[in-house]
Amino acid sequence: MILVFGGNGQLGQELTRLAAARGLPIHALPHSEADVADGGAVAAALARWRPELLVNAAAYTKVDLAETNAEEARKGNEIGPAVLAEACAGAGIPMVHVSTDYVFDGSKPDAYRETDPIHPISAYGRSKAAGEAAVRGALKHHVILRTAWVYSEFGNNFLKTILRLAEIRDELRIVADQHGSPTSAREIAEAILHLAPVLLRDQKLSGTYHFTADGFTTWHGFASRVVEIAAPIIGRNPRVIPITTADYPAPARRPANSRLDCRLFVQTFGFTPRHWTEGVDATTRTLVGAAKRMPSHVA
Ligand SMILES: NC(=O)c1ccc[n+]([C@@H]2O[C@H](COP(=O)([O-])OP(=O)(O)OC[C@H]3O[C@@H](n4cnc5c(N)ncnc54)[C@H](OP(=O)(O)O)[C@@H]3O)[C@@H](O)[C@H]2O)c1
Repeated sequence: MILVFGGNGQLGQELTRLAAARGLPIHALPHSEADVADGGAVAAALARWRPELLVNAAAYTKVDLAETNAEEARKGNEIGPAVLAEACAGAGIPMVHVSTDYVFDGSKPDAYRETDPIHPISAYGRSKAAGEAAVRGALKHHVILRTAWVYSEFGNNFLKTILRLAEIRDELRIVADQHGSPTSAREIAEAILHLAPVLLRDQKLSGTYHFTADGFTTWHGFASRVVEIAAPIIGRNPRVIPITTADYPAPARRPANSRLDCRLFVQTFGFTPRHWTEGVDATTRTLVGAAKRMPSHVA
């Protein structure tokens, strides 16, 4: 069975839902039941569930808050992965650890390969880079999966923010000089369930892979697509205006280029991601459809 930490996050929930739909044995532990930085809680969970594979979907993902809350970010993103990797090494099981495009500084003109040097420019990125290093140092049998711009039906994310703003504003001002691939947590869950049997079979498999949806856009392109799909359903069509990163100052710096080259993942695991618009369209339709079906007295 697969044991998931960070079970209430976007990826944790999609993994649980997808594995259940496929009849695969899985158990997901939310933060409230197991803090990944708590060695005792992690050891107890492994002793109780005796998994064949551990997936770390837990992370401190508040990119701006991490600038002033470095200790919490370090707990979730560096100490936690170290604790999990050591526990997996002790139990003799592999681990899938999820990481981020924010380990790069974004200065490369084209998509990042796994061999490109990392250079995080935010506290979040530094804590995730340290987490990757901790996993590599403690556990040989692992896959580190770097992804980017994650959205889903669950939790808080950019797609849901755009839908909320589209209901109340006539104009949305969105950053158009950062490039990346909006990736659905569902597709990352599919990729993990696809690689799991390969990792379980091959005791020597160990490495870092990039996995995002295919193609790329900007945050402005992402928002424009969400509004285009939602507009005929919600009966509102706000203007989406491109702005620059400098027009929208935030506590944490973000890479201008977040594009990840996923060829190595496709070659190794034989799973090809869909174009980013497919997932964005489907999730937008699901979310606006669900909102329409809600009785009017429900806020
Ligand atoms: N979201 C993105 O755009 C994005 C982009 C690139 C990479 N990633 C990576 O993708 C992975 C999944 O992200 P996601 O979007 O699913 O994140 P998410 O929705 O924020 O979920 C993360 C989960 O981890 C839990 N958590 C935080 N600290 C923890 C701790 N110390 N112990 C146990 N659980 C803890 C959180 O619980 P609480 O909320 O209760 O704290 C939350 O349920 C992460 O590794 C993230 O770094 C995400």
